[in-house]
Amino acid sequence: MAKQTVRDLDVRGKRVIVRVDFNVPIKEGKIKDDNRIVQALPTIDYLVEQGARIILMSHLGKVDHKDPEVTAADKAKNNMAPVAVKLAEKVSTKVSFCAETRGPVLEAAVAALNDGEILLVQNTRYEKGESKNDPELSKYWASLGDLFVTDAFGSVHRAHSSTVGIAEILPSALGFLVEKEVDMLGKAVYEPARPFVAILGGAKVSDKIAVIENLLNIADKVLIGGGMAYTFLKAEGKEIGKSLLEADRLDLAKEFLERGKGKLVLPVDHITASAFAEDADTKVVDNDHIPADYMGLDIGPKSIELFKNELLGAKTVVWNGPMGVFEMKPFAAGTLEVCKAISELPGAMTVIGGGDSAAAAIQLGFKDKFSHISTGGGASLEFMEGKELPGIAIIQEKK
Ligand code: 3PG
Repeated sequence: MAKQTVRDLDVRGKRVIVRVDFNVPIKEGKIKDDNRIVQALPTIDYLVEQGARIILMSHLGKVDHKDPEVTAADKAKNNMAPVAVKLAEKVSTKVSFCAETRGPVLEAAVAALNDGEILLVQNTRYEKGESKNDPELSKYWASLGDLFVTDAFGSVHRAHSSTVGIAEILPSALGFLVEKEVDMLGKAVYEPARPFVAILGGAKVSDKIAVIENLLNIADKVLIGGGMAYTFLKAEGKEIGKSLLEADRLDLAKEFLERGKGKLVLPVDHITASAFAEDADTKVVDNDHIPADYMGLDIGPKSIELFKNELLGAKTVVWNGPMGVFEMKPFAAGTLEVCKAISELPGAMTVIGGGDSAAAAIQLGFKDKFSHISTGGGASLEFMEGKELPGIAIIQEKK
């Protein structure tokens, strides 16, 4: 059975609570990357056209509720107000912002909505009960709306009041972004055209265990780069100098190497550095020649060629995690070249599973060169791990 989508709901004149993921990077009140806002527009614009009264809810950053002083600082830092300003530039209707997450001011703002207008509510994490899926909070928020739509793909792995609790009470549907994410990620991971090559990077093996596990079963090749490659190389008995090592994951890495024989591909050379710094001294070295006082911060040119060769002819590619410390110019080439190679594959379905690799691709100018760049970080990882996502599971099936 398929989940209901927003097209299945009769939304005209109804108060529609839409959970979006507007957890965007903000510095000194300025939004640094509005991609998540842009990606939610198809659902928002549709609801505006259909004459719904749209109540948008999202979290922004984290709010620690243990120490009152920290809570106040977190709340001040993670104020949703700048997001309302940005959203208003992108839609053709009135956008109001309510700085409260409950109470008469919020209720009045909801009551004042006309058909086709938008109200953005303050950061859901201002509420202590949000992350615990508190039933009282869910019931209160649900009382503000008639229908619930989830379009927050980046948050569907969280069972919170705003992602799951409200959907337990109101009739619910998927928004267009979540529908697209599930369709694209689902096709890539569960119905891949072959050969299917997965490229995994990022700092830690421990963050990617379940993904490696699942993709070793599904993909034809799993290429490993980034900091986590060094734990694998160490597990093969290689010297890795001062490179990142998760000693407590060595046995697991050995097990993956055994299971992934012929499938798992590791870098063969590295850009190593005397320190974790942009201006550090660097040396390009093969495996086994990493100097004892140097650390690997990017894959080297031979590894780039090796990975490019492995990609040749691929019909499905899933990429998650950078190949090196791409934020520093001397260590960006691996990520850039791999990104370029994937984007140039003819006729391949190419998917970036969110997080740092999505940020890297966008930052490096490859935004429109992939079949799909997920807006989810943790959510797309959990999807690729094969886990059920509670924010999707709770949505009603089509009738
Ligand atoms: C993300 O940025 O991955 C999502 O917005 C989820 O944020 P969270 O990890 O704070 O729940």
